[in-house]
Amino acid sequence: MQSLIRDPNLSPAGEKKIAWVAAHMPVLAAIRQEMEKTRPFAGVRVALCIHLEAKTANLALTLKAAGAEVVATGSNPLSTRDDIAAALVASGVRVFAWYNPTPEEYREHLRLTLETRPHLVIDDGGDLVHLLHTELRGVAEGVIGGCEETTTGILRLKALEREGKLLFPMVAVNNAQMKYLFDNRYGTGESVWAAIMRTTNLVVAGKTVVVCGYGWCGKGVSLRARGLGARVIVCEVDPIKAVEAVMDGFEVMPSLEAAAKGDIFITTTGCRDVLRAEHFRQMKDGALLANAGHFNVEISLKDLAQLSVRQEEVRENITAYYLEDGRRLYLLGQGRLVNLAAGDGHPAEIMDLSFSLQALAARYVLERGKELPPRVHPVPPEIDRQVAELRLAAWGIEIDRLTPEQEAYLASWEGE
Ligand SMILES: NC(=O)c1ccc[n+]([C@@H]2O[C@H](COP(=O)([O-])OP(=O)(O)OC[C@H]3O[C@@H](n4cnc5c(N)ncnc54)[C@H](O)[C@@H]3O)[C@@H](O)[C@H]2O)c1
Repeated sequence: MQSLIRDPNLSPAGEKKIAWVAAHMPVLAAIRQEMEKTRPFAGVRVALCIHLEAKTANLALTLKAAGAEVVATGSNPLSTRDDIAAALVASGVRVFAWYNPTPEEYREHLRLTLETRPHLVIDDGGDLVHLLHTELRGVAEGVIGGCEETTTGILRLKALEREGKLLFPMVAVNNAQMKYLFDNRYGTGESVWAAIMRTTNLVVAGKTVVVCGYGWCGKGVSLRARGLGARVIVCEVDPIKAVEAVMDGFEVMPSLEAAAKGDIFITTTGCRDVLRAEHFRQMKDGALLANAGHFNVEISLKDLAQLSVRQEEVRENITAYYLEDGRRLYLLGQGRLVNLAAGDGHPAEIMDLSFSLQALAARYVLERGKELPPRVHPVPPEIDRQVAELRLAAWGIEIDRLTPEQEAYLASWEGE
């Protein structure tokens, strides 16, 4: 089968969206310009499983321009945009994805993507890699390696590595500085609020926001909440992160205590059941619940369903859960990562950095090939640096260079 999408006629709308973001992704444009000449992916099949929206499409088209045969699918049921899928197909990328598939359809789309027998996999959350280590182990034999986009996917890869079961090398793109410092922190910080504000049409200023998890995403979400005028409470399990949150000026307390105080709750942990029955029992009438972590497991949907007598979609992407005592809790985007399920995802300039890392890291895996053992590898520091340099160059910003004397001083143990 060539492709499986909702409606090929949607491609003109998708093409416009891709053109808009591409015009704001100068780093990837510079990489594309170079790769169009050198065609490092000529004859290479690349399977892409990332939120299938405009910025991802730009990555897919860059890889294609670099010679790859690209096949793409979505990494989350609610983040696929059907017009983008159509535009990609019109540009010669094979796509197996549509918005809001059933769990069976979602899995089938992943399976069809892998049945094209890719040489490289670019995964976001670890679903492709999981299939390659279970149902489709035969396909894994032809996989040279790949890259992983997000924290949760890397946790899953590390678990495979620990058990000695990882079948091919994977580069942890998420752990590059040019990724988490900007994508996880500022990207999530901005896009989560953009999504919550447009989905609810409610004010943030003056509200109490509870952020669960003070990792890179939680830091960005907390920072931007404060900028919007909210009082921010942080809940953590890591004492170091908790100290950091206090020193950054936020209130820190256990989530059960915060449950009674919050107007808006946002989970950014990568963990499960962070907000559950005992929290819902404490919450105020009208509390908003949103998740920004990769999977829809951070807010217990099972507990919400059990505690409620009725559910209703009261506005697009807002489900009201009516509790027995009359309180209402509002869940945004079905508890899936709110910035993509109920918004446009990270800003284009942010994904420019992440996807530039992806393109360069994929080339690195291909070039190093079998030399790389089947482990989780860091992004080489030269690639991180190259992306930063390209970003500065696109802004026209120059920075200082060390003098030879300074270099010698920094490399010496003797001091003055
Ligand atoms: N929405 C997006 O666009 C987006 C972007 C990047 C990452 N992510 C996802 O967001 C999640 C977090 O990513 P990150 O990079 O911030 O990870 P991180 O590891 O930097 O931070 C996670 C934090 O959550 C804390 N935590 C874990 N379990 C907890 C619990 N039960 N209660 C309170 N705190 C807990 C950890 O101590 C840690 O500080 C991951 O699932 C990641 O894949 C989403």
